[in-house]
Amino acid sequence: TPDIAVNNVTAHLNQLQSIATANGGSRASATAGYTASLNYVKGKLDAVGYTTRIQNFTYNGATHANLIADWTGGPSSPTVMLGGHLDSVAAGPGVNDNGSGSAALLEVALTLASRNPTLTKHVRFAWWGAEEQGMRGSTYYVQNGGAAGVESYLNFDMVGSPNAGYFVYQDDAALQKVFTDYFTSINVQTEPETGADGRSDHAPFKNAGVRVGGLFTGAEGVKSAAQAQKWGGTAGQAYDSCYHSSCDRYPANVSTTALDRNSDAIAAALWKLAVGDTPPPV
Ligand code: PHE
Ligand code: CA
Ligand code: ZN
Ligand code: ZN
Ligand code: ZN
Repeated sequence: TPDIAVNNVTAHLNQLQSIATANGGSRASATAGYTASLNYVKGKLDAVGYTTRIQNFTYNGATHANLIADWTGGPSSPTVMLGGHLDSVAAGPGVNDNGSGSAALLEVALTLASRNPTLTKHVRFAWWGAEEQGMRGSTYYVQNGGAAGVESYLNFDMVGSPNAGYFVYQDDAALQKVFTDYFTSINVQTEPETGADGRSDHAPFKNAGVRVGGLFTGAEGVKSAAQAQKWGGTAGQAYDSCYHSSCDRYPANVSTTALDRNSDAIAAALWKLAVGDTPPPV
């Protein structure tokens, strides 16, 4: 399984920061900063052969957009889907929330294209709009038949928190194990994510009966002494003290170590689930 080049992930984050700076400081859904973010990701994917689609939807009187990208190098079903939200809050550039997941997914997608392994599953990526208004993009996608044929959905929302924790969604035991096995192999202890339910784009998939998993490095929660002992960082401080704030910027508000480990974990999970003859988790 590939080692994702974290320098490429941070280069994408730097671009997302520049996009926010050039568009009034944010990449909020249905703004110019969001459109520019979507065009950046879409351009990279189109250049390596993905079939991309912009799915527009209306919410609160504005037109929002999801970006869906299908890899053409495998079977047409069943589908392993990976996603994260591309929009920020209006208050800031959204580098950790969720430039981090967006950039990690983009680099994993580009790596899949360059490696072009034989696949047992169809692979689809999504970058959601309007998560910050209540998971509107992922909800719209699922309500309009998007979950059909999706065997597993993996969500990545905040994977580079500056005072990072290593949390694995516990919604599905087999998908949880795919991630915890990877982190065990690099000697990083994880904790199950218990507070994520209903708080990100995996929720509509889970409600539709799709198995879901994902990773999270923490938001406004405070790191304990025991967590600082095993993960490093600062006890008594938030995992991301710039959560939903103007200071959620590149490079100050991202842990390159967390971004590297989580990007590699995403690739490991994708390879485990969709490459070669590994049977699906049951
Ligand atoms: N969805 C939250 C946000 O974008 C972040 C979050 C993700 C919180 C996962 C908890 C678990 O603000
Ligand atoms: Ca790496
Ligand atoms: Zn958020
Ligand atoms: Zn988020
Ligand atoms: Zn959940």
